[in-house]
Amino acid sequence: MSTLDRPREKRSAAEYGGGWRLVRYPAPVPGCVQGDACREDAYAAALGGERADALVTDPPYCLLTRRRKRGDLRDPHAGRKIDREPVGRFESVRDYRAFTEEWLPRAVSHLRPGAPLAVWTNFLGKEPISSVARGLGYQPAGELVWAKRTTEHDGNEQLLRVYETALVFLRDPLPPLAPADPPRCWCVAAGYDDDGEAARWGSHPNHKPFSVLEALLRAWTRPGQLVLDPFAGSGSIPAAAMRLGRRAACLEIEPQWASRVSDRLATASSPGS
Ligand SMILES: C[S@@+](CC[C@H](N)C(=O)[O-])C[C@H]1O[C@@H](n2cnc3c(N)ncnc32)[C@H](O)[C@@H]1O
Repeated sequence: MSTLDRPREKRSAAEYGGGWRLVRYPAPVPGCVQGDACREDAYAAALGGERADALVTDPPYCLLTRRRKRGDLRDPHAGRKIDREPVGRFESVRDYRAFTEEWLPRAVSHLRPGAPLAVWTNFLGKEPISSVARGLGYQPAGELVWAKRTTEHDGNEQLLRVYETALVFLRDPLPPLAPADPPRCWCVAAGYDDDGEAARWGSHPNHKPFSVLEALLRAWTRPGQLVLDPFAGSGSIPAAAMRLGRRAACLEIEPQWASRVSDRLATASSPGS
């Protein structure tokens, strides 16, 4: 069975030639669980024993601690954009690998066999995440690139100079496209907050816009499926999943963000609701 196949009862009416009749499937646990993605009890609390159909997540990036030559911390307040500091830093890439080795196998153990993984990262995080995923029997399928639309100073010109990527891993190689198949989408150009959702939900520094997440979720999950996000931040991924008729289970270590995500998910709606 391919990773995107799913039981008949979970298919939408549209797939049988009817109009859209998306059911809002209940999440295993309503809202976001405040917990640590490295701990088993957090997954038990978020999933209630259910296995997820996909891991779509945005863990802390591999940002290294900035130190002066003498070893003391440099610019300890850098990146503080909101009332709580969600940006973690790591002493070395080795430390980041150890962190990845703690959370990724644990998250994967809560997925159905064959479930895809989509993990956002920065340049330094690619190798540790890829090697841990490979160790779990996954192979890279591709990278979704978010080309970030920005303007400089007062200029009108729109630039796409910065990008972020989500690494996609599958158990089996992607089948080649047949001539009539639509292309696979691997790049989306979008601003940080085109739809105003970041501003509405606390301006998390690592917010991901719906237009970018939509491409990822449509490609690798199907309506009714359960999406696991152990690093919810402001909840962009679970909210996008719900908006697309998926179900969501999520964790966030910062109590304040976890509570905001719960508020956000309570207002998130699916197309059929
Ligand atoms: C890159 S951000 C996610 C941003 C999110 N995608 C959004 O759009 O708002 C990573 C989040 O993981 C949280 N986090 C860091 N370590 C964690 C851990 N061990 N368990 C759960 N959450 C953690 C941070 O507090 C942060 O909010």
